[in-house]
Amino acid sequence: MDGNGRWATARGLPRTAGHRAGADAVRRVVESAPSLGVETLTLFAFSSDNWKRPTREVTTLMRLFHRYLASEAAALQDNGVRLSVIGRRDRLAPSLVRQIVAAERLTADGRRLHLRLAVDYSARDAIKRSVREASSLGPDVDLLIRTGGERRLSDFLLWECAYAELHFIDKRWPDFDATDLEQALADFHGRQRRFGALPAAV
Ligand code: IPE
Ligand code: MG
Repeated sequence: MDGNGRWATARGLPRTAGHRAGADAVRRVVESAPSLGVETLTLFAFSSDNWKRPTREVTTLMRLFHRYLASEAAALQDNGVRLSVIGRRDRLAPSLVRQIVAAERLTADGRRLHLRLAVDYSARDAIKRSVREASSLGPDVDLLIRTGGERRLSDFLLWECAYAELHFIDKRWPDFDATDLEQALADFHGRQRRFGALPAAV
């Protein structure tokens, strides 16, 4: 989810307005994903490197996560969405961690969509931890979509993306909608995935 800040700046708004618009985009995409055949959706909400941003912006983002979880958990449950938050929790406010645990518990039986929200997430960190603690990494990523025009991975799901198809879109995250997701999936279905084998063998 990249481009919130630039989306706001282009409209003469504070960056935080872009993050709020970004939260609306999350609602739209989460709603449309199951009917487009998406079973697991992982959203990069806050990277471990985002702590480097000004305190005010970080505080706003944390407040938005809090609010999103508080206001959406019941709707996610009603819509059969299971929510998991991936990333470190030891640097999050205890009240936010409690909210995360409560939302994960409430939505644990959801089977229509597995929504994974990456907060204080670093793929390198996750890989190191999985070696040290024998904890597991996530499922293979089929399609990685990056909004906002950048063409890099930025420490997101490095190991899981070993055979991911990459899709880059210049649109900023607050403008991303169901049609963009549909197009990205159509593009994905047109790719030939060989996983190192020859075409005929797949
Ligand atoms: C993505 O938007 C949201 C987060 C990383 C929290 P950005 O905040 O990166 O927006 P730009 O890249 O400055 O436009
Ligand atoms: Mg950015």
